[in-house]
Amino acid sequence: MKLNHIIKAQQFDRKSLDDIFLVASQMEKIALKGGSNILHGKTMATIFYEPSTRTRLSFEAAMLKLGGELISTENAREFSSTAKGESLEDTIRIVGSYADVIVLRHFESGAAERAAKVSPVPVINAGDGPGQHPTQALLDIYTIKKEIGKLDGISIAMVGDLANSRTVRSLAYLLTKYNNIKVYFVAPDVVRMRGDIKNYLTKHNVFFAEETDLKKVSSQVDVIYQTRIQKERFGENLDDFEKAKDKYIIDKDILKVMKKNAIIMHPLPRVNEISIEVDSDPRAAYFRQAQNGLYIRMALLKMILVG
Ligand code: CP
Repeated sequence: MKLNHIIKAQQFDRKSLDDIFLVASQMEKIALKGGSNILHGKTMATIFYEPSTRTRLSFEAAMLKLGGELISTENAREFSSTAKGESLEDTIRIVGSYADVIVLRHFESGAAERAAKVSPVPVINAGDGPGQHPTQALLDIYTIKKEIGKLDGISIAMVGDLANSRTVRSLAYLLTKYNNIKVYFVAPDVVRMRGDIKNYLTKHNVFFAEETDLKKVSSQVDVIYQTRIQKERFGENLDDFEKAKDKYIIDKDILKVMKKNAIIMHPLPRVNEISIEVDSDPRAAYFRQAQNGLYIRMALLKMILVG
């Protein structure tokens, strides 16, 4: 299967998800053997207008492991000609004449869609403000499948900054592709899950509930998906940030009530919403989750650039 633009989680159906996960498992083996040359002669551009560790570096590592080349601007607001007033559309047209695929992180929701409309090459949305982060959702679902062994029938608690988290938004969209999913939203009042996602889940017959007792929910679910309260999304409204931060923390008390085979996930970076003491518990899956990002991104680049 050949992929083109990757803009939003809803664009995938269950068959394409299965195909991506199959290729990702092949990529895992290739990465462990030291890589391959299947993308020799191909160039990837990474254009990042917001900070990143995992997404940019795992895409770049994925390209290098498959024998491709990369060009990159890691602080595009300051170091690209955006600083001189160039539009996103013009930047994309130009970079698309240098590269075979563009990986774009931007601070505005909808930016990747705008880029795809003018790009001569496939665009991958690496996070567009509070909008979506579809490749994160793919690696999240891949991680759940690997760790729990199934996707149908799972229950998941999404915790933290649900209003601003593009990762939980994309993950919620993808979960609608599976059967008998139960979603529990646990968020401080000021950052509760937005209505558009709740309406989408209702439309797709996915059970969800809004809860306030993290301990109670943690004892019931297969997956706890914790998120950071994103200070950078609050603007001047730091009173709301103070109300939200530190309200829900995963610590030893939560570990005590969790099911034996449940897992804790987090898109990372973490600040203090998961205590360090949790890291050594085998149910802490967030570092394995980040590593899966490499295999998913190798798979996506292969499927975009050579089919
Ligand atoms: N999960 C994620 O998007 O991390 P980065 O911001 O470090 O890319």
